[in-house]
Amino acid sequence: MSGTTPEGTHSEEEAARWVRGMFGRVAHRYDFANHLLSGNLDRLWRARTVRRVRRVLERPDARVLDICCGTGDLLLALARSRRGLVIGSDFCHPMLVSARQKIVRRRANAVVFEGDAMHLPIRGSSLDLITVAFGFRNLTNYEAGLVEMRRVLRPGGMAAILEFSQPRNGLFSAVYTFYSRRVLPWIGGALTGSRDAYQYLPESIRKFPDAPDLAETMRRTGFQEVSYEYLTGGAVALHLGVIPLPLPPSAAPPPPHP
Ligand SMILES: C[S@@+](CC[C@H](N)C(=O)[O-])C[C@H]1O[C@@H](n2cnc3c(N)ncnc32)[C@H](O)[C@@H]1O
Repeated sequence: MSGTTPEGTHSEEEAARWVRGMFGRVAHRYDFANHLLSGNLDRLWRARTVRRVRRVLERPDARVLDICCGTGDLLLALARSRRGLVIGSDFCHPMLVSARQKIVRRRANAVVFEGDAMHLPIRGSSLDLITVAFGFRNLTNYEAGLVEMRRVLRPGGMAAILEFSQPRNGLFSAVYTFYSRRVLPWIGGALTGSRDAYQYLPESIRKFPDAPDLAETMRRTGFQEVSYEYLTGGAVALHLGVIPLPLPPSAAPPPPHP
């Protein structure tokens, strides 16, 4: 499992630059295209994510970060479900400009900062929850992205990854493939003026690891209680994982005999 490889890119640096540039080009129409192309299902997927992390959100002192927050739709949904602050980060400035406008308009208790999810400017073991919606697939190294999430989460902290997946049912899968490869680039291109962005989308979904694989990588990078659920017939999967608490001294293995 490595990371995203947009066509024509040859290194992680080039891939990251391509991803940032592409989102910069579609930012002005991103929300409109997103809701239209998903038939508004994206709102339900984010609402489900918020419900699954509610036990952390309900704690007023919990520190919550939504990485790859883009124009802030998950960030705002999280903010609506808690009294405390939520923080968003993204490395694409035009997406953050749009997020900031929405935060102000809705008077949400949220702030955003510009930062790379692969190198978060955050102290280790300091967050209770990290969420990421449709951003993880765009990281240039999935394993390193998970290691970074693990670094900044406290013991007991939780990660939630909402991402496209592969539909489970053969017929639905065929319809979905046709829609995402033939229809989506055409409509997405017309709406945003960036056809390449909507050609990249199905290609990046096709190359993205399936849900059991991602779950396994989460376990390997130190997450526990890893689980996932498919949404909308497997078009999307929501993964959850928790950072283990340190063992109490009584449960630690005895020191070796001299
Ligand atoms: C498909 S958008 C999703 C935005 C938002 N989370 C949502 O649910 O609509 C993906 C976002 O991930 C961001 N992104 C991709 N790679 C990133 C990275 N390494 N660091 C920070 N942001 C990244 C992009 O700039 C883009 O805004």
